[in-house]
Formats: sequence, structure tokens, C-alpha cells
Amino acid sequence: MKIGICNDHAGVEYKFKLIQMLRKRGIEVVNFGTDTEVSVDYPDFAHPLANAVEKGEVDLGIALCGTGNGMAITLNKHQGIRAGLAWNSEVGRLVAAHNNANVLVLPARFISYRVASSIVRMWLDTDFEGGRHQRRIDKMPCR
Ligand code: RB5
Repeated sequence: MKIGICNDHAGVEYKFKLIQMLRKRGIEVVNFGTDTEVSVDYPDFAHPLANAVEKGEVDLGIALCGTGNGMAITLNKHQGIRAGLAWNSEVGRLVAAHNNANVLVLPARFISYRVASSIVRMWLDTDFEGGRHQRRIDKMPCR
């Protein structure tokens, strides 16, 4: 399992902690984010992560910014990306089980690190349910 992670200046601290947590679980992590708190523009980091997921260079992605919305909106411009915003572990479960999100987006300024890590663990440990949820995903592309 290889996960790409990206962040803007609002997500630096949680990004480094999540990288440690994921590596402890034996997951390979590729860092696409900024490593300092100097203000940056989230699309500059979202697009490289989305491209890597679409090309299969990483299996899944995690993205962090202040609210999560800038990253989610940018990532979801990519046809091969289903980026889901989660703010608690139950939403983390549902974004895997129902939306089959291949990128998990976290609102770093609005959740504790403890919650962030529990969301990531739940998202990783939950299987997509398929069935009616696959039918809905099939209807997502613009028609
Ligand atoms: C950065 O200040 C902030 O705008 C960004 O992290 C994010 O919340 C945007 O959606």
C-alpha cells in the first residue's frame, strides 16, 4: 500500500504526524505537500497528488488544508478522483463504505489531531460496500 499525502500551510503539523502513524502501519507514504507554515496556494499541492492517484503511482491520497474545502474542490476537478471531506470517524467510515473515496480530505483547523488520525484509520480499515453505492458512483461523471 502506497499513500500520497498533500497539504497547504494549515496542514503541516498533522501531515507529519500522519506520515509517522502510516509508516508505523507499514504503509509507504509519498509527501506532495509543503513542509513549512509559509503561506502557499493549496491547488499547487492538490493537483500533483491527484495526478499521482490517477496515474496509479500511489494507491490512495490524503489531503489537508484549513477547512478541507479548497483541497476537496480542487481534487474533484480530476475525473479519476473521488475526494471526500470527513470531520469525524463515522464520516470517515461512510466516505469509504458509500463513496469509495480515493482521496480523504481533512479540515486541519477544525479537528484535533486525535480525531484526524481516527478518521484516517477508519477510512483505511473500511471496505467499499458496492451495490447501490456503485450505481450512484457510476452516475457521478458529467453527462
Ligand atoms: C488557508 O488560509 C486556507 O484558506 C486553506 O487552508 C483552506 O481552508 C482553503 O479551503
